Order: sequence, then structure tokens, then C-alpha cells
Amino acid sequence: MPVLQGKKIVLAVSGSIACYKSVELLRLLIKAGSEVQVLLTPSAKHFVGELTFATLSKKPVFSTIFDEQNTQHHWANHVALGKWADLMIIAPATNNTIAKLASGICDNMVHAVYLSATCPIIIAPAMDLDMHEHPSLHKNIQILKEYGNIVLPTNSGELASGLIGYGRMLEPHQIMEYVTDMFMPKWNKPLSHRTVLITAGPTQEQIDPVRFISNYSTGKMGYAIANAYLKQGAKVILISGPTHIPVPYHSNLTFVKIKTAQEMYEATQKYFNLANTFVMTAAVADYKPKTKATEKIKKQNETDNFTIELIQNPDILKWVGNNKKQGDFVVGFALESTNEQEYALKKLHSKKADMIIMNSINTPNAAFGADTNEVHIYTHTHPEYHIPNTSKQELAYLLVKYIEQVQGTKFI
Ligand code: C5P
Repeated sequence: MPVLQGKKIVLAVSGSIACYKSVELLRLLIKAGSEVQVLLTPSAKHFVGELTFATLSKKPVFSTIFDEQNTQHHWANHVALGKWADLMIIAPATNNTIAKLASGICDNMVHAVYLSATCPIIIAPAMDLDMHEHPSLHKNIQILKEYGNIVLPTNSGELASGLIGYGRMLEPHQIMEYVTDMFMPKWNKPLSHRTVLITAGPTQEQIDPVRFISNYSTGKMGYAIANAYLKQGAKVILISGPTHIPVPYHSNLTFVKIKTAQEMYEATQKYFNLANTFVMTAAVADYKPKTKATEKIKKQNETDNFTIELIQNPDILKWVGNNKKQGDFVVGFALESTNEQEYALKKLHSKKADMIIMNSINTPNAAFGADTNEVHIYTHTHPEYHIPNTSKQELAYLLVKYIEQVQGTKFI
């Protein structure tokens, strides 16, 4: 069952231009199966209407502690909500809201529920550059962390004022990663004995200085698996093709950036002896141009066609399978469009892998570029295992768990 299914979440929104992102965050929380109660500070209502939040959450939105029509009902609510919630998210949290949270001021529903809450609290700040740099903010954030709250970082970029710098609220999908993480079951035994080599993303095979052959891979699945292993205490060597994903910051991570399949192959060989687990998620280009033009190729005339001769790239997974050491565990991915099971099983044998994780391009919201994925897993020892469509982050956690389970039985 998805980890957010049935979770009770209070989403508190304070008045910032980033409020529009909270609408998307609400949508993602609801889509993940959680029940959400939205609270708006009075100034948040200037940015996004109550009706938008109420419609998406299918619940009335609360704002003030005292309501002229139903004072008693609302007064009681903040205590009940604080106890009801499994998680409270304050996003965006403005400088004003953060200062009040840190000092215990209670003049609207958000602060009243915050002070009554017994659940974990995630705070996602949003403010302009000068406010973000003011020492009072840093002091208040420090206080909030000391109280046990999780205060998220901000992104750098263009701010509402036009200034560039830190202060942008994290994107909804980034906040979702923290939220999902919070509800993941914790493992009893850390994976500190594992060093996992992961290949991720596409490769680019150069034609001339301005053109290359590549594919639609974004690297999301490989990075999610790297993060899942790091969180469980494993050491990770992440060999990545060009992606737009931020590199995880972790002392257990060795990050190697490459462009071509040949470079990925050489990096894999270089780190091969350090690793005991291999997860090859990369969409490696099978072919590359035989020659690489040193100058930009020009159109010859109006009618000529142009032919590029392609030669095979090394099959990295196959090399790892053929060279695996005693105790190594090798996982490959298979992206198929027809005869999915048959081709995946063929790969399991021909590449001497211990596991093939198959995703199909026929599955909606899965594989290349999607934020979610659905897989069927084949091994030599266990029956086919199906993980239904879920976020790549949650899937990564389940995959690491399953790899660990199968890997554990291989050497008994
Ligand atoms: O043969 P196919 O490309 O479908 O196999 C997919 C699996 O093989 C993936 O795990 C991919 O990372 C790996 N692979 C590789 N080197 C290649 C081609 C694929 O490691 N040249």
C-alpha cells in the first residue's frame, strides 16, 4: 500500500507568492491517498482563494480561531486538529509565520494548530532575498529545529522581487519527497556492508561538436535508487549520464559524471572492485557514430541525404555479469515494448544478471521521464514479483528492500 494512503495531514499555508505551489502540493498529497485539512492564514487568502483549496481537499478550509457564526466549534478545532494529524506541513512559511512559530505567538488557526500538534511538523520557508538573509530568520529557524521541527531548505533562483538568490519555496514534488520519506518504514539493519555501483541516466554519443545521439532517459529512477541506498546506510558509487537532477549531498556517495557509453564503461571498470552490488538503470546508447566529426557537419545541397555509420557500444551490464566476483549481486533494467516477460527473462540469462527489473513503455505513467513507475521483477530463484504503479521514490525504496531480500538468500 502506498505510504501516504490514509495519512491525515494538516497543510497550513501562509501569505506568500509561493501559495500557488501549495495548491499543487495539496493535489499531490490527495493523489497519494492522504486526507488533508487545509488552514490558511488571513494573508494567504489574498494570494489563493479558499474555494480552490476547499474543492481539492473536499473539506472546508479553516483560517481564524474565532468564527462569528460558530465560535465554539472553531475554538475546539485547533486542539482536535493538532491531535488528529499524522503530519503538519507549513508551506509556504513566511518570515512572519516563522517568527511567530518560534516565539509561540498564536493569533490565527495555523499557529493554534501548530502549538497543539503532537505529530511531526515540516516547515517550508518562502521569502525574498533580504528577508532570507536576515539574521533573525536564521535564529528563528534554529529555534524551530531545536523544538524538533523539520525546516526544509529553500531553492535558489528568481524571486518575486526580481532578485536572484535563495528564498524560493521548494517545488511541490521536492516537498513530497520529504513527506514520503517521513512515512517510509525504518529498517532494523542498516546496509553499511553494501557498496552499490549504480549507472543512471542517458548517454550522449557525439556526431559532431554540436550534435549527439541520445534517448529520453531522465535518470530519475537511478537517482531515486541511489538515494534509497544512501538512506539505508550503504555506500554508493553513482555513475551518471547528463541529467538535470541535483546530485545528492552525502558523505557515502562517490559521484562520477560521464557523457558517453564508453566513459560509463570505463568508470564502471574503474570502480568495479570496490562494489558488491550493481544496479544498472542507465539507458545506455547501444550504438555510437563510427567517426566523430571535429567540425560541425554542413548540409551539402538541397537533395542529398546524409548517412551516419553506427558501431556498437560496449554492453556494460553484460561485462559486469561476466566479471562478477564471488558474492556480487547484479541487477539490470529492461525497458520493453512487446513480449515483455520473454525479453526480460532472456536478458537475465544472456547478461548473467541476478535480477532484471522490467518496465514497459506500454504502461501509462511509467518508465522514461515519468515521476511514477510500475515494474515486474525476474530472478533465478524467486517467482515473478510485481510492484504496481507508485512514485519512483517509493518504488526505489521497495526495490532496494526486494534486492536485499533476494541478495540475502543467494549466498545461504
Ligand atoms: O539490452 P538492453 O539495453 O535492453 O538492456 C538493458 C540493461 O542493460 C539495463 O540495465 C542497462 O543499463 C544495461 N545496458 C548496459 N550497457 C549497454 C546497454 C544496456 O549496461 N550498452
